[in-house]
Amino acid sequence: MDTMMTPYIPVSRAYRSRLSEVDWDNLQPGAVATDHMLICDYAGGRWKDAEIVPFGPFSLSPTSLVFHYGQTIFEGMKAFRTEDDRVHIFRPGKHYQRLVKTAQRLCMPVVAPEIFREGLRRLVELEKDWVPAQPGGALYLRPFQIATDTRLSVRVSDSYRFAIVCAPWGAYFPGPVKVKVEREFTRAAKGGTGFAKCGGNYGGALYPTEQAMAEGYDQVLWTDGIHHKYVEESGMMNVFFVFGDKLVTPPLTDTILDGVTRDCLLTLAADAGISVEVRPVSVEELQHGLETGVVKEAFGAGTAAVVSPIGTIGIDGKDYYLPVEDGEGHGLSQLLKNALDDIRYGRRPDVHGWNYFVDTAI
Ligand code: COI
Repeated sequence: MDTMMTPYIPVSRAYRSRLSEVDWDNLQPGAVATDHMLICDYAGGRWKDAEIVPFGPFSLSPTSLVFHYGQTIFEGMKAFRTEDDRVHIFRPGKHYQRLVKTAQRLCMPVVAPEIFREGLRRLVELEKDWVPAQPGGALYLRPFQIATDTRLSVRVSDSYRFAIVCAPWGAYFPGPVKVKVEREFTRAAKGGTGFAKCGGNYGGALYPTEQAMAEGYDQVLWTDGIHHKYVEESGMMNVFFVFGDKLVTPPLTDTILDGVTRDCLLTLAADAGISVEVRPVSVEELQHGLETGVVKEAFGAGTAAVVSPIGTIGIDGKDYYLPVEDGEGHGLSQLLKNALDDIRYGRRPDVHGWNYFVDTAI
């Protein structure tokens, strides 16, 4: 990406800022969007010029394809403020790679990498006062793309809007997560779109999640769509378990999202010399491990959720409890979260080159 030409992205500034509306002590995920957004339209086989404009509604025809057949995709990313007060975007290249895979699966064109990267950089640079300074805070970045052809035949759209909006973000889960192992509903089937970050994957998960919530859980722990035998991922998060002293996570397949946080944790675990196994985990093995105390920890990992300890796992009507982190640095989940945060907040060298500082031109 470094040899690319830097595109010029014009900015129309918002008349007044809404920054004072943010309740910094009580950040609700995505509650207040920042003052500006990036938009870039595709039509006639080419992308038009990207621009940054005041945040505001889109005007779309009710027959726009996005409203009907699910051609809508997104990424979830974050910008951080380091302790020495610089602002960076975390791993834009890795997110772009996933956006490309998602777009291909949904038959959508993708903006050029230099538009993606420079658009994010310019937008975050403009909104840098919105990047929280408090521990655990971040500016959430939501690149997304929708189909905008106006017709009702079921066919790939010829026109699209790509946009990026941003919102200050705090903790997604206030405490340890309670998950229910899902044995009936399916999130993703082999050959489907499970690996892609497309709207339909999330819409289809709402009903089973509501059912689990009605039973007192926070999230579903999805199992494979064939036999409901192997653990796949949790709502919005990849999952990790600590069996004895081994960190274990299911391998990526076409039914599991290739999480950027998952990738970071695997890298940081290798750096720390932690023994890691990327292999299928059956519900039977998990249940046995919970019953015998071999499973010491379970946690979810995702951009929004960061590293979220799982405190309860419900399997076939029985709840199993895990000791959760006390924030004092014990346990692998806390160790890995601290290692990740240390890089993101500039407390330890970014040896993997994950932080893309917005004051560094490409
Ligand atoms: C993310 O972690 O960025 C996600 O995509 C979760 C989001 C659906 C809240």
